Amino acid sequence: MSDELPAGVLVMGAGTIGCFIGGSLAAAGVRVALVGRPRVLGDVAEHGLTLTDLDGMRHQVLPGVLRLSNEVPAGARPALVLLTVKSGATAEAAAELGAVLPAGTPVLSLQNGISNAAVASQAAPKLNILPAMVPYNVAEIGAGAFHRGTVGRLAAKDDPALRQWVAVFERAGVPIDLHPDLLPIQWGKLLLNLNNPVNALSGLPLRDELLQRGYRRCLAVLMDEALAALDKAGIAPAQLAAVPARRLPAILRLPTPLFRLVAARMLRIDAKARSSMADDLALGRRTEIDALCGEVVRLAESNGTRAPLNAKMIELLQAWPERKTRWTPAHLLAEMRL
Ligand SMILES: NC(=O)c1ccc[n+]([C@@H]2O[C@H](COP(=O)([O-])OP(=O)(O)OC[C@H]3O[C@@H](n4cnc5c(N)ncnc54)[C@H](OP(=O)(O)O)[C@@H]3O)[C@@H](O)[C@H]2O)c1
Repeated sequence: MSDELPAGVLVMGAGTIGCFIGGSLAAAGVRVALVGRPRVLGDVAEHGLTLTDLDGMRHQVLPGVLRLSNEVPAGARPALVLLTVKSGATAEAAAELGAVLPAGTPVLSLQNGISNAAVASQAAPKLNILPAMVPYNVAEIGAGAFHRGTVGRLAAKDDPALRQWVAVFERAGVPIDLHPDLLPIQWGKLLLNLNNPVNALSGLPLRDELLQRGYRRCLAVLMDEALAALDKAGIAPAQLAAVPARRLPAILRLPTPLFRLVAARMLRIDAKARSSMADDLALGRRTEIDALCGEVVRLAESNGTRAPLNAKMIELLQAWPERKTRWTPAHLLAEMRL
């Protein structure tokens, strides 16, 4: 079967997203190489990959099917690269790719935020780096086991190099849509991701956090600032939730019983799912706050305005290592002067 498919995929940064999407492609018969850290690759070498989702999907990739390495293998000639490191690691990972891969190799940046593809292009100018957006949440739930806890379709900037992959991704259960301009979609996702710092500071699973109005009010003001900055910049964020992006803050501010009714789709989340920023805080790792709230602050400043509550979020995340106490809704609202 793999003979009919475009030649291999290389996953740069085999973590949660890389193992889930790369593993899904491998389960569909694509040759996949994972470049990652010893902890993750050791688990994959021993257990293979078990991929599940909230609709009951279950794929098993046996140990030995995936090629594993800690660095980009010399002489690697993948037909497609999936760049799946966190934002802070983008430049270094792209430079490693650029040092080994032929000019023009397509690299799909499956990362949150707005600027990762541009950062990667700067570090590896000869590669064809394309922005993409992952709409769903994936969590590592055991050794080599990854679970997709929400639903959605991948999106990427249209490019001839990606078109042959659309059917392959569809067959692998990770469907991807190509768009002439990804920026509105990236901003649509970023608006939703503004919940990540609120979720991380709450210390709660996503669903429990979203069911507390105080946390939702904090998220609503972060979105208000982002929407105002987007308006000024003339960017219309894409609708990725059940309602248009502009209506989200008002819905978030509803009393919880009403919110439950109106936002049923938004609440279709596994009971245990948390934002990966929550995991980063818990494990003392660098967070992607600069790629989220930092983008809002920079966009506002580029318009001659400010986004002080997004700036406040950055401050609170950065102060976490000293504090390490979860924020109640009341404390967070007071800190944000709401
Ligand atoms: N997880 C989700 O549900 C989700 C959903 C949508 C979008 N995203 C986005 O997807 C991107 C990836 O997130 P993730 O959760 O998959 O991150 P992750 O689990 O931390 O995976 C990234 C992996 O890449 C490794 N890595 C970093 N630099 C490397 C290098 N030069 N060579 C080899 N390995 C390297 C990291 O190791 P170290 O930890 O040692 O750096 C880590 O193991 C982020 O932008 C995130 O925002 C995630």
